[in-house]
Amino acid sequence: MCGIMGYVGPRQASPILMQGLQRLEYRGYDSAGIAVSDGGQMNVRKAAGKLEKLAALVNEMQPAGNLGIGHTRWATHGPPTDVNAHPHADPSDEFAVVHNGIIENFHQLKGELVAADKTFASDTDTELLVHLIADEYDGDLAAAVRKAVARATGAYALVAVTVHEPETLVAVRMISPLVVGIGDGEMYLASGIPALLDHTRKVVVLEDDEMASLTPAGLTLETLAGETIERDPIDIDWNVEQAEKGGYPHFMLKEIFEQPQVAADCMLGRLEGSAVTLEDVAWPTGFAENIDKVWITACGTAFHAGLSGKELFEGLLRLPTEAGYAHELRYRNPIVDPGSLTVALSQSGETADTLAAARLLQERGSRLLAITNVVGSALTHYADDVIYTRAGPEIAVASTKAYLAMLISQYLLALDLGHRRGSLYEPQALEVGAALAKLPGQLEELLKREDGVEDVAQLLAGHDDIYFIGRGLDYAVATEGSLKLKEISYLHSEAMPAGELKHGTLALITEGTPVVVVNTQQHVYDKTTSALQEVKARGAEVIGVAYDDDTEIEAYTDHLLRIPRTLDLLSPVLSIVPLQLLAYHVAEHRGLDIDQPRNLAKSVTVE
Ligand code: F6R
Repeated sequence: MCGIMGYVGPRQASPILMQGLQRLEYRGYDSAGIAVSDGGQMNVRKAAGKLEKLAALVNEMQPAGNLGIGHTRWATHGPPTDVNAHPHADPSDEFAVVHNGIIENFHQLKGELVAADKTFASDTDTELLVHLIADEYDGDLAAAVRKAVARATGAYALVAVTVHEPETLVAVRMISPLVVGIGDGEMYLASGIPALLDHTRKVVVLEDDEMASLTPAGLTLETLAGETIERDPIDIDWNVEQAEKGGYPHFMLKEIFEQPQVAADCMLGRLEGSAVTLEDVAWPTGFAENIDKVWITACGTAFHAGLSGKELFEGLLRLPTEAGYAHELRYRNPIVDPGSLTVALSQSGETADTLAAARLLQERGSRLLAITNVVGSALTHYADDVIYTRAGPEIAVASTKAYLAMLISQYLLALDLGHRRGSLYEPQALEVGAALAKLPGQLEELLKREDGVEDVAQLLAGHDDIYFIGRGLDYAVATEGSLKLKEISYLHSEAMPAGELKHGTLALITEGTPVVVVNTQQHVYDKTTSALQEVKARGAEVIGVAYDDDTEIEAYTDHLLRIPRTLDLLSPVLSIVPLQLLAYHVAEHRGLDIDQPRNLAKSVTVE
């Protein structure tokens, strides 16, 4: 959950590093730093706080040199202070390291180094890596890094430089992401593709246990065991615009408005009538037909998408399905059999808990299908099958378009499985296919209705506690609506199944308490309406999310956020949108940092 940037070539490294770090701030933003070498000296600048703090420092005196590394941090070991910011140099300032992730045997290694009279300036685990590398150095940086990482265990990515080799960057990927960008006589390294797009579209994605040595002349890729790897670069077709705000005040708003396109891209070439083609899914003969259980695992927003998946696989396919938070599942002792399918959802494909839970289920015999947004992410390395969501880079910490694309990916998966298992009547499958195909247009139309949302947002911005309720798929949407609101507005909000209210939470509903109800599911419509009446009777201010043509709900609500009519099965794709916008505008009213909410990072690559 930190961002790494590296450069070696004929140009001054420092502006390139700063630009790259700007694009990586979504990965962590509590402190930042760069180290630049001109061959004779290692110039390190670092500062706690947002990147502007570092930029001010760098602007005061630009460090000169054609080789450099940069880092934007989200603290794990040690608080976000100047001294704990990366890069970390050895006491002689000859070596510098940036690092993303965690060294698990940190305490043991630090103990050994302290016993050997090494001094530490910071509280970080990273600093011990620079000590180890400096100790092992014998004229070959790659060899020193290889020896150093052999002593460290954990999940991380690191990049090292030394004044002794002013044209070499050495990087290692152990689970955390790293991508090499190939320029013309210059090379780049970054934790994420957006940081490279200003310079190149040719990238090589590093895999676990690989080491890359970069010089202006090219890339040498090896396993940590020293075997040479040949890997062709891939061409990235994201344009730079996609990685920028595109005229919106915040990435989050831009990403919400990208959703019609995201929905269309996700289905492009994959859905024809009711027939689905999933290019990276290759079911072994007979497997799909005989799946006896689906496990869904994920964290946060991705888990909320999975809650809809659970309803879908059970309801549409009649497949027993369990959705488990990855951080819980990984420490359970789940009973898994070889006929099961695990669906692991992760925008980043790097969430440590999701990886661990997915691998646990896989090791116990389940087939692992990943639904992720990031090509080459760790999850895709382990997965047997992958559905790429094609949502494009998501920069705002609060996930929106990636959630929507995960929902759609699950519908595609359900249709595919439904066909193979014979659990869908063709007319029903065709109806779902046609309704899916209509979604991009409906989303487009829905996004033109922002005004009503702003009024409700103004109302909510003045409250401290907000409740979200719904049943079935509506409950799944309520969980995500509630998370969106709390994570960017810092208001307390809670989602619960509508039927659960009267078992305790109703005691908290008093005059004016806002209750948001999602009510689109016909088979439980009346039940949810009774819950509404209960809260209304206690004076709640009720905000309904309902279809355009639902007039009945008007009697029980104070405000309505309308969505176009679709199949109840597909309503989450539409009903989440006003809730995303609601969260956005509440945070805007409260004047908060919408794209980078406090204490949060875009991808949580450690436990
Ligand atoms: C909230 C949010 C997080 C992530 C969660 C999992 O808006 O984005 O809850 O959904 O950290 O991340 P991924 O999907 O990358 O595994």
